[in-house]
Amino acid sequence: MATIVGSVMTSHVPAIGRAIAKHLEADPYWKPFFDGYPPVRAWLDRVKPDVAVVFYQDHGLNFFLDKMPTFAVGAAAEYRNADEGWGIPTVEPVRGDPGLSWHIIESLVADEFDITSCQEMKVDHALTLPMALLWPGGGDWPVRVVPITMNHVQHPLPSPRRSYALGASVGRAIGSWDENARVVVLGTGGLSHQLDGKRAGFINKPFDLMCMEALVDEPEKLARYSALDLVREAGAQGTELMAWIAARAALTGRVSKVHANYHVPISNTATGLLALQNDGPALARAA
Ligand code: DHB
Ligand code: FE
Repeated sequence: MATIVGSVMTSHVPAIGRAIAKHLEADPYWKPFFDGYPPVRAWLDRVKPDVAVVFYQDHGLNFFLDKMPTFAVGAAAEYRNADEGWGIPTVEPVRGDPGLSWHIIESLVADEFDITSCQEMKVDHALTLPMALLWPGGGDWPVRVVPITMNHVQHPLPSPRRSYALGASVGRAIGSWDENARVVVLGTGGLSHQLDGKRAGFINKPFDLMCMEALVDEPEKLARYSALDLVREAGAQGTELMAWIAARAALTGRVSKVHANYHVPISNTATGLLALQNDGPALARAA
């Protein structure tokens, strides 16, 4: 059976792509952000995932306002990166895992999630930048990927409760996959940010830190917010927190915090990083 080794939740601000391309990791503006990643990379080196299941928002690359699935699961053998308008360098394609994708799709539908399955899919900065931060160097990615997009673009958005249920269902699907694979679950986006409108630049540090705490031991607490509560507390784009909620919900049983980092601001965004190890029975069984 497959094993979930843990979750990594991280921001995905497009400017990170430019900073990586220009080798600005030690620059005073960027250092407090990039310094968060080496301990998480060291943990990934230890737990050695084969596959990353990634919850994130597609920012208009596959789905625009005319066609917007609430949740979509990629089922391709390969996902190409394209620039959806930020002008950041594209990265090498990532390999898919169609076997796990279809198992997750079948499990989700059996669980009564009306998802969209995508045998062709491009991936945007919300998938590629976390990949580049966790497995730097690009090119030959050490993990296969299953992308799961969530609509955080166009209202009505799914609720945090529904996002939690989605993550829990995906976690059960991974746990019942009949392959001896090690899986890490990523959630990308957030934390608080608003890119336009009257509250452009809005950041809510106390709320972000409360969420990062709650995600460790009491993630159900965050499922009590509505999507509009998140808009109010975290900004219009802070709703990407729902990808973190889904990634956390995929872990059952005990978890331990591997590492956390919070830095304000990068671009318009409060950036966060949280890595959690799954200490539940699943991991013990695989060890
Ligand atoms: C920014 C943050 C995002 O999450 C995103 O998708 C695009 C831009 C920003 O802060 O610049
Ligand atoms: Fe985003």
